[in-house]
Amino acid sequence: MSKALARELDVPVLALAGALASEFVVRCWRPSSSGGKRAPIGRRALVTGASRGIGLGCAVALAEAGAHVVMAARGHEALEASAAEVRAAGLSAEPAARGSVPADGELRREVLERKLDSLARNEDRFRRYILEGELRTSLCRHCHGAEGVSRRPGVPSLAAQDPAYLVEQFERFADGEREEFVMSGLADGLGESDMIRLALYYASLPLGPEASGEPELADRGGPIYRRLCTGCNDHQWCGR
Ligand code: HEC
Repeated sequence: MSKALARELDVPVLALAGALASEFVVRCWRPSSSGGKRAPIGRRALVTGASRGIGLGCAVALAEAGAHVVMAARGHEALEASAAEVRAAGLSAEPAARGSVPADGELRREVLERKLDSLARNEDRFRRYILEGELRTSLCRHCHGAEGVSRRPGVPSLAAQDPAYLVEQFERFADGEREEFVMSGLADGLGESDMIRLALYYASLPLGPEASGEPELADRGGPIYRRLCTGCNDHQWCGR
């Protein structure tokens, strides 16, 4: 890839090095069929993380070496813009279909769910985790209730909640995506294994209808929940 094109596409120096490396690989590996003269490689290449940086550099290098490049990345708008720039430079490239690369959150969710599933397969260890989670709740119970059922306005109940959702919320508080004075400070000091133990403990607690304390309000709230909230939460009141 020429330096001018790298500048035009705003590809940083490190990316240029990645691009040169991939160009090198393409040139060395492609068998030369016509007496050492380079022929188009005639292949489709899939490059992930291709909307910027090293990924974009590699996509350009492969396209320059004759490949048709399918560019994939999580942010679709940025990806389409980068693919358009690569095509504008006279190269053969297209953005991968929207949604073909999972978002960070979806990947994290999948990893978490797998971890929780594997924990659940060992019954003894699973029980031990729940007990160890309970031992960490001396602070939490002041706000979230002794059994994970909150009696304080503005404080959510945690009982019977989806454990993957609970871990995700800790992580959101810890990395600042979600903010609440006490929760942000608490989550920041928790490691993943504490989060998982706490989440498994709260998920194991029952949330009976009597817990709401206001059955009449609960009856009126049900239909409102189903009408307004099931876009993001499922019918079991869990996050999707
Ligand atoms: C001083 C009160 C307080 C304490 C102590 C506290 N929390 Fe919270 N927690 C809150 C409030 C308030 C929220 C809701 C914040 C918001 O609206 O974003 C919350 C939210 C959460 C959430 C997100 C729930 C959801 O439905 O999205 C989780 C999970 C959670 N707390 C777990 C814990 C755990 C575990 C502990 C103990 C280690 C704890 N909290 C201690 C007040 C507290």
